[in-house]
Amino acid sequence: MSNISSQEERPQLPMQGIPQPGRTEVLQLPRVHISRHPVMAHKMTLLRNKETPAAQFYRLVKEIGSLLAYEATAGLALREKTIETPLEQMQGYKLAGGIGITPILRAGLGLAEGFREVLHDVQIWHLGLRRDERTLQALEYYNQLPHKVDLQICYAVDPMLATGGSAIDAVNILKAKGIQRISFVCIIAAPYGLLKLSEAHPDIDIYIAALDERLNDQGYIVPGLGDAGDRQFGTF
Ligand code: PRP
Ligand code: URA
Repeated sequence: MSNISSQEERPQLPMQGIPQPGRTEVLQLPRVHISRHPVMAHKMTLLRNKETPAAQFYRLVKEIGSLLAYEATAGLALREKTIETPLEQMQGYKLAGGIGITPILRAGLGLAEGFREVLHDVQIWHLGLRRDERTLQALEYYNQLPHKVDLQICYAVDPMLATGGSAIDAVNILKAKGIQRISFVCIIAAPYGLLKLSEAHPDIDIYIAALDERLNDQGYIVPGLGDAGDRQFGTF
């Protein structure tokens, strides 16, 4: 006969009772960059609206990805390059070294497309991580990272930073590949996940479009935008 009480048999809500930091506690984190661009604020409102259909949602994710790419690439290194304009020779620049983008599947695909609109000459390293909705643990199911690594920087991109589990695992995997410089780029972060990622990887920059209030008991970002993967690909 089982002696498990009915209280213990009930499935637990994974974030229930877990203390969470507030927004003000994470605003001072040194390597977190939050967009202040008015066009971003405008597009974010369209994105969050539950009436926005999947096709428009995907387009917005791409556009926000391009805006985030401008912000996240501001510190890239350059090499001088001599060119001739139609009038005379001049000293120009080219980006020094390769650039990698790691979309965390599947919701990171739209963001990666937005990055490619800005940076054409990039390597795309697909990484599949799925969050178990009961435990909120990230599980790796796909990995197309190359054997040879020769990059100036790799951007791990995923629209949602919720508990931080997927982001921390993704950066662990990239570091194990020998990547020296990594930035994490997302659309919406919860203070909880932002703090966890910053603590686990204090050496990376984190670029976000918006910092939200908290996670709900199921681990969803509030007010958030719902499920970023389902909304991009229409799989409700
Ligand atoms: C979502 C999201 C992140 C993860 C964030 O992906 O795109 O990868 O959850 O949650 P965390 O910070 O608590 O780890 P999901 O696992 O739902 O997969 P999907 O992209 O296929 O929708
Ligand atoms: N993943 C999502 O897609 N949305 C959330 O709010 C949290 C995780």
